Amino acid sequence: MTENTIQTVQIKRIINECEGVKSFVFKKASTKSPQPGQFVMVWIPGVDEVPMSISSYNERGEWSITVKDVGECTHALHELKIGDYIGIRGPLGNAFQIPQDKNKKIFLIGGGIGMVPLRFLASELVKLGYKFTTIEGAKVENDLIFMDEFFDLKREGSEFNYCTDDGSYGEKGFATEIFENALMDLEPDELKNTIVYTCGPEVMMHKLFQICNEQDIEINASLERIMRCGCGLCGLCAIDPIGSLVCKDGPVFTSVELREMNDFGKFTREFSGKKISQ
Ligand SMILES: Cc1cc2nc3c(=O)[nH]c(=O)nc-3n(C[C@H](O)[C@H](O)[C@H](O)COP(=O)(O)OP(=O)(O)OC[C@H]3O[C@@H](n4cnc5c(N)ncnc54)[C@H](O)[C@@H]3O)c2cc1C
Ligand code: FES
Repeated sequence: MTENTIQTVQIKRIINECEGVKSFVFKKASTKSPQPGQFVMVWIPGVDEVPMSISSYNERGEWSITVKDVGECTHALHELKIGDYIGIRGPLGNAFQIPQDKNKKIFLIGGGIGMVPLRFLASELVKLGYKFTTIEGAKVENDLIFMDEFFDLKREGSEFNYCTDDGSYGEKGFATEIFENALMDLEPDELKNTIVYTCGPEVMMHKLFQICNEQDIEINASLERIMRCGCGLCGLCAIDPIGSLVCKDGPVFTSVELREMNDFGKFTREFSGKKISQ
């Protein structure tokens, strides 16, 4: 059995994260432990198969995905109960590159459901003894997720910041603005030794990429594209002009790779494969 074989798993727990967002916990046999940034293809028999980032993994072999109800398949997932079965393929794709240098200044910056892979990354960084700063952005307070987990992960030297578009919780404004302000407090040698991990709306990630480029800061961005096969066969998730496949070469891309992607922040593809503006 390879990581690309569908495995039927039973839902062990369901957690309501916020209105319209639920986490599903299951156990899956795998030769490889999943790494933060990787995803699974989730199959609902008779409905569809869709990509979902892995939101947590623990030593008891429990995995979780965190799903926003946006359409047919995610709605069907939200209707499932504890004890129901789903099909899982994975872990698929690559992972965030964790630096060797524990003194690196690390930022985790996410928006909305984009916090999912960053939550897994945050718990891994805590396990490995890294300090980091998280900036979570959402439209309104009720859309903020994982605040309880982040409270538990808080260690000396790590920070968790929140911002909302309407100022209903945390700072009023965008995560990119909070990040720009935080950069102003850094000494030149800290600035040089900074890395940013991001996932969320592509417009936010593209703005972060521009800020990072100007300051010569490394960035790892987790991109989303509509996927069909999830394993490099159909080409639907290709990014022009270099043809990187989000499912196989990504979903996490480095500064060097992002600089070569004309599509990043501008174009995506429909289910038909047709390219459209974002
Ligand atoms: C690598 C990766 C990781 C993802 N991780 C998560 C996650 O952790 N949690 C989560 O809730 N969602 C995640 N998504 C997005 C998720 O796959 C889509 O929301 C889901 O496929 C929608 O299926 P649906 O049948 O419910 O919606 P549909 O009825 O098919 O479509 C509803 C809306 O969602 C859009 N959409 C459909 N598929 C995708 C897609 N693959 N990416 C982005 N938008 C899409 C459609 O354009 C449409 O606007 C991820 C996507 C990728 C590529
Ligand atoms: S989804 Fe088929 S190649 Fe990526």
